[in-house]
Amino acid sequence: MRIVKTITGLRKILSRNPGPVGFVPTMGYFHEGHLALMRRAKKENACCVASIFVNPLQFGPSEDLDLYPRDLERDQRLARSSGVDILFVPEVSEMYPAGEPFSFVDVKHITDSLCGSARPGHFRGVATVVAKLLHIVQPRAMYLGQKDAQQVAVLTRMVRELSFPVKVVVCSTVREADGLAMSSRNSRLTPSERLQAPALYQALSRARALCAAGERDAAKIIFKIKKLLLDATSATIEYVACVNVVDLQTVRRINGDVLIALAVRFPSARLIDNTLIKYADGKKAAK
Ligand code: PAJ
Repeated sequence: MRIVKTITGLRKILSRNPGPVGFVPTMGYFHEGHLALMRRAKKENACCVASIFVNPLQFGPSEDLDLYPRDLERDQRLARSSGVDILFVPEVSEMYPAGEPFSFVDVKHITDSLCGSARPGHFRGVATVVAKLLHIVQPRAMYLGQKDAQQVAVLTRMVRELSFPVKVVVCSTVREADGLAMSSRNSRLTPSERLQAPALYQALSRARALCAAGERDAAKIIFKIKKLLLDATSATIEYVACVNVVDLQTVRRINGDVLIALAVRFPSARLIDNTLIKYADGKKAAK
């Protein structure tokens, strides 16, 4: 595995034509969710490129940029054993040499709701850095996790509307044995918060069961999820929403492919999770 810190260095290696590239953008502090993306990228492409860049543009002024967990040595080991051929680890000064850039990629409307409403500017930062990384790496395919469903919607739209020649591959959420979606931020939870955190998955599983039993009323499902979260955790609920999976517009009825998404804040970390109710699930339930 090559470790590359500069854009010029990376372009030079890639210009030697390593074959079709599968790209996994990350902010590091790897867990099984990241590694699953790398393994799949390697399996489906001649060359797997992963990046580690804690992108300041996607953190708000009061957010956890400085607290974001980092362990480059461990990440290098894990990336190597997960099939990464080239690990790109630029410094902030390499990606943004003049400080905050003047040029941004702004995906409108679908960035206003869900995580976007509590984190203004977040998805502008995500879209901008991923656009820049795609220009640098020029992969055949980019691998993203379903855990960050709004990020998937935003980047899929960006790729389509700006004609990036890249396929977006979405991989399932990888979970701990108790159902908690793996996240670099889980390491910041206190022992008590960690015990409460599986309630997010349990509430979503309950919602799935309600849909399978024929419940179509989104308000009732949201109410049930909120109640479960309030009963089982001390977290503050940021949002619980049922939305159309493509444009993230709120739906009143569970018909078609619907994303049920939530975010809560523990004092030590903000957690998100979601579940996708497929149209087939709805049809089954309606019978
Ligand atoms: P990061 O949070 O490091 O996540 C990198 C990739 O791993 C994302 O595609 C994310 O959805 C995926 N991922 C995280 N946890 C996962 C899990 N439990 N199961 C499956 N996939 C998971 O997302 C970012 O970084 C950044 O916003 C980035 C896209 C790199 C732009 O800076």
